[in-house]
Amino acid sequence: MYDNFVELERECKKCNKCELCKTRHNVVFGVGNTNAEVMFIGEGPGENEDLQGEPFVGRGGQLLDKMLYAVDLDRKKNIYIANIVKCRPPHNRDPKPEEQEMCIDWLRNQVKLIKPKIIVCLGRIAAIKIIRPNFKITKEHGVFIKKGNVEMMAMYHPAAVLRDPRKKEDAFQDFLTLRDKIKEICPNTYK
Ligand code: URA
Repeated sequence: MYDNFVELERECKKCNKCELCKTRHNVVFGVGNTNAEVMFIGEGPGENEDLQGEPFVGRGGQLLDKMLYAVDLDRKKNIYIANIVKCRPPHNRDPKPEEQEMCIDWLRNQVKLIKPKIIVCLGRIAAIKIIRPNFKITKEHGVFIKKGNVEMMAMYHPAAVLRDPRKKEDAFQDFLTLRDKIKEICPNTYK
């Protein structure tokens, strides 16, 4: 474990613990306020993220930014966004369990330093890894579950909302639920 973010990011960017390092262009470490009370966690970089070195910058990312904006959240100001795996799985396949396992300590270290009050998992893969192995995203999205000192919830992945626009309403509702929880337990996020 590293006890400062600069060192953590520097070391993470040199990581070659799994095969994904061979095909990556950039390690996608994370973006946002390292003092945020709210952290979003996705599954892993896609093509645009790999090329730009920042999470959620493709079409899904644009939708995410819009939803964030609707509830006064901003990736550069009052949240932090990271992924389960920091390097792009080729052809956008799901990250393999062993790749997730190799990578998860970087995320654990990020969480330890940021100390978020709320963690939002974006999509099923993140929810399964972070909340519970048998998590059912269709049934349990938008529901807060307390683990230790952290309130956790999962939302549909923005790419899933783009694929199936009928999910938009539920997705938006989950952001409103998130906003209420932030107002309840995060004194600094909307300051
Ligand atoms: N999908 C993710 O889960 N994370 C990203 O950073 C981009 C797309």
